[in-house]
Amino acid sequence: METKYFTTPIYYVNDKPHIGHAYTSISVDVLKRFYNLRDIDSYFLTGTDEHGQKVEKAAQDKNINPKDFTDQVSENFRALSGILNLDNDDFIRTTEERHKVSVQDLWNKLVKNDEIYLSKYAGWYSVRDEAFVADNEITEKDGKKFNSFGSELTWVEEESYFFRLSKWQDRLLELYNSNPYFVHPKSRLNEVKSFVSGGLKDLSVSRTTFKWGIDVPNDENHIMYVWLDALTNYISALGYPDQKNPKYQQYWPGIHVVGKDILRFHAVYWPAFLMAAGLEPPKQIVAHGWWTNEGQKISKSLGNVIDPIELIDQYGLDQVRYFLMREVPFGNDGDFSKEAMRNRINGDLSNNFGNLIQRVLSFIFKNSNQTIDFTKEILNFDLYKKILSSESEMFEMIEKYSFDGYLKVIFSHLNELNTFVDRSAPWELKKTDPERMKQVLDQISLCILKLSQYLAPVIPNGAEKVYSVFGLDSSYLKFNRFDDILAKGSLKITKPEPIFMRLEN
Ligand code: MSP
Repeated sequence: METKYFTTPIYYVNDKPHIGHAYTSISVDVLKRFYNLRDIDSYFLTGTDEHGQKVEKAAQDKNINPKDFTDQVSENFRALSGILNLDNDDFIRTTEERHKVSVQDLWNKLVKNDEIYLSKYAGWYSVRDEAFVADNEITEKDGKKFNSFGSELTWVEEESYFFRLSKWQDRLLELYNSNPYFVHPKSRLNEVKSFVSGGLKDLSVSRTTFKWGIDVPNDENHIMYVWLDALTNYISALGYPDQKNPKYQQYWPGIHVVGKDILRFHAVYWPAFLMAAGLEPPKQIVAHGWWTNEGQKISKSLGNVIDPIELIDQYGLDQVRYFLMREVPFGNDGDFSKEAMRNRINGDLSNNFGNLIQRVLSFIFKNSNQTIDFTKEILNFDLYKKILSSESEMFEMIEKYSFDGYLKVIFSHLNELNTFVDRSAPWELKKTDPERMKQVLDQISLCILKLSQYLAPVIPNGAEKVYSVFGLDSSYLKFNRFDDILAKGSLKITKPEPIFMRLEN
């Protein structure tokens, strides 16, 4: 049976959640919900990345020991999952015992396969990205060194274990060539390929100059490099090292959704670690772009970090989810602005969707015996048939992570439906042709029900509200249950409350 396993990156707990975290999490949530609504078994993992120098430093700055600090901040991320209405199946923390066992087992396998050796590292390191930086990636300004993301570098010189990454160059290229979808979008796959083709150096995978990490087995001087630790979360959560664990069997290999900045770790290091340990590499890495704020790069120093919780308080959860998924093609960079947000909410959610529902359902509630009926004739409505025939195109959009494309199709149907409402004007038919009026209202309701199902992965609360007006609980939002709805023959409508109110300036 086909299953899907989607992951978000696990988030560093050095600071509170921002829009980038919310974005990745919501996109994975949409995927999880979409496949579940299609009855395709899917599993959704998120969590927190709690070790390493950056987190240790954040704890020191606050004068708290790292364990207490990570306990506190991790809770903010867990809370965010609730606030974003994520349907995640698990939330993993890298400070948990199940993860430590898993990482140490992976390490032992690498040692056993002679993939790790002891040597010395001398080079530049970005604490912010927790990344070793090669000479050709360094720029200099005012006597300081920076990597390509503009993070300041520090010099590191210490004994270190190395992973024989160089040895995996050909196998990695083979992996990319045999699976052109391994990295999505294709442009990013090309970037990865050219990085790997340029030659790989062995990777330092342990540190000795600080303590906040998972111990290297059999060497008390070393802790593991935080990325080897962090990446392993994706299998720890499935019960690894127990490869017979039903979750591991059912869901591995998985699909990792990540920001473009951490693609290399996922598409190069992670598959190499896994293959070197004799394990299956991930199925796919999907890289999304970065958000700017009103045209400016988001950064703490500029003080323009967008807090997703404030955003939701101000605009509403489904509104924020919709905006993030609709505004920018997944994979591209995008700009957040208040104006763009307001235009999206007013134009699509409020005018096109909310208003339609409000005016049609309140009219039915007041004038049409509060009932809608699904006769054969109603099911023959052209627009309804057109919606159904676009389903495969819509599903393909999600297969290709084109959330905006998916939503565009839905909203073009809603546009047509609005035109139909205006043209057939049921409020006038009330006097001239009540029979036709009833027919028109049934046809419109049928389309609203179907389109709300398709919208449910993105705006789950809104879709549930619409269904509840028809007396249907959320289990009917499963795409395959539409026939059960139709089989009821008729539905009774309760008084609709407005959804997606218009935002004023
Ligand atoms: N801990 C690592 C991931 C380890 S996964 C094994 C990490 N954490 S993070 O908290 O710094 O970043 C998490 C995600 O947020 C990344 O995918 C990153 O791309 C994303 N974003 C950070 N800023 C962003 C924007 N301004 N816009 C969109 N996403 C951004 O990296």
